[in-house]
Amino acid sequence: MDTKGHFPLQAFRSLETPFYYYDTAVLRQTLEVVSAEASKYKFQIHYAMKANANRRILSIIRGYGLGADCVSGGEIRAAVEAGFPASKIVFAGVGKADWEINLGLDYNIFCFNVESIPELEVINQLAVEKGKTAHVALRINPNVEADTHKYITTGKEENKFGIALCDVDKVIDVAQKLTNIKLIGMHFHIGSQIMEMNNFAGLCSRLNELQDQLEARHVLLEHINVGGGLGIDYYNPDRQSIPDFVDYFKTFRNMLKLREGQTLHFEPGRSVVGQCGSLITKVLYVKEGAKRTFAIVDAGMTDLIRPALYQAYHKIENCSSEEPVEKYDVVGPICESSDCFGKDVLLNKTHRGDYIALRSTGAYGEAMASQYNLRRLPQAYFSEDILENL
Ligand code: LLP
Repeated sequence: MDTKGHFPLQAFRSLETPFYYYDTAVLRQTLEVVSAEASKYKFQIHYAMKANANRRILSIIRGYGLGADCVSGGEIRAAVEAGFPASKIVFAGVGKADWEINLGLDYNIFCFNVESIPELEVINQLAVEKGKTAHVALRINPNVEADTHKYITTGKEENKFGIALCDVDKVIDVAQKLTNIKLIGMHFHIGSQIMEMNNFAGLCSRLNELQDQLEARHVLLEHINVGGGLGIDYYNPDRQSIPDFVDYFKTFRNMLKLREGQTLHFEPGRSVVGQCGSLITKVLYVKEGAKRTFAIVDAGMTDLIRPALYQAYHKIENCSSEEPVEKYDVVGPICESSDCFGKDVLLNKTHRGDYIALRSTGAYGEAMASQYNLRRLPQAYFSEDILENL
C-alpha cells in the first residue's frame, strides 16, 4: 500500500509531534499468524516485552494468549498488570537483583532463565527464605553465529550471556543439589534481527548435540526455549509486513529433535511489533549546508536511538509531499552529531511542516526512548482510535 494513503494525515494535524503511530491492524494480523503457526506444533510463545512495553500494545498481545518474556522487575510488574498469567512469564537477564528475583518468586512465575552458578545459588537462597521452589532453565551460550550487528549478537563465546558449553555438566550438578531449585529447561538466544534460517538451523544442530550429551547423563529437561531473533524487512516494510513465521517455525520443527514430552518455547520481540509502528515527526527547517541539505525534524535520537546506536536503517518517507525527490540528511534537534536518522535520503521535495514517517519502529523505538536534553517522551497513538474518530 502506498504510504501516503496509509497514514491518516488529516488526523495527524491535530496531534503534537513527534509521536509513535501504531497500526493495530498490522499488529493483530501479525499476532494471528504467530498464534496460528505456533499452535500447529504446540509451540509456546512468550512475547519479549523489551521490544515494546506500551500498555496498549501489551494488552493487545495478551489478548492473543501469548506469555511474556521479561528482563527486569519492572517488566514483570507490567506483564502482570497487563494481564499476562504468571504461569506464562519467563524472567531472563544476566544480572537479576535480589528484589527482582523475590518478585518473580512472589508471583510464582513459570521460569527463571539462569545464567551462572552464583545466580543459581542466590535464587535458591531467596527461595529457601520464602519456602518456595524456583523453576529454572539454564541459559546456555551455544557459541553459534548469528550474522547480525555485533551489538545484538548474544550467542558467541565472547558474549557475556549464558553458561559456556564446557560448564553445562558442572552447572547441572550444582542445580540438582540445590534444595529449592527445580531444573525444568534449557534456554538459548543467539541474537536479534536474524534473516537467515541457516543461523537458527545452526542453533538446532548445537542443541541436538547437547541433548545427546544430557541423555547420556539421564537428564531430561521438559522445556527448550530458543529465544527470539527473527528479523524484519526494514527496507521494504510494506512488501512483507508480517515476517515469515511459517519458515521460521518449520526450521525448528524440522531441525530440532525434541524428546518425548518436551515443549518448545520462543521469545519473539521485534518480529511481533516491529512493522506496526512508525515514528511520525514534523520538519522544522530545511537548511542548505555547505555540502548537504539537511531536513531538521522535531524527533531526535531520544525518540528513536537505533540509527545512532547501531547505524540501523529505517525507511524514511515524506507523507506530505508529492514533488520530485531530492537528497537530504534527515537529522534531529539533539546536540550530538550522531543524532542523524539517515544520510542522502531520497525524499519528495521537503518543506517546513511536512510530516515524515520513520518506518518499522514498533520494536526498540518507544521502548528505548530517553529524556536526554530534558526532552518529553514521545506520545503513542493507535490507528483503531484515530480511524474511529475521523
Ligand atoms: N530473548 C532474549 C533472551 C533476548 O535477549 C532478546 C533480545 C529477545 C528474546 C528478543 O529478541 P527479538 O525477537 O526482538 O530479536 N535494541 C536492539 C535489540 C536488542 C535485543 C536484545 N535481546 C535493537 O534495537 O536492534
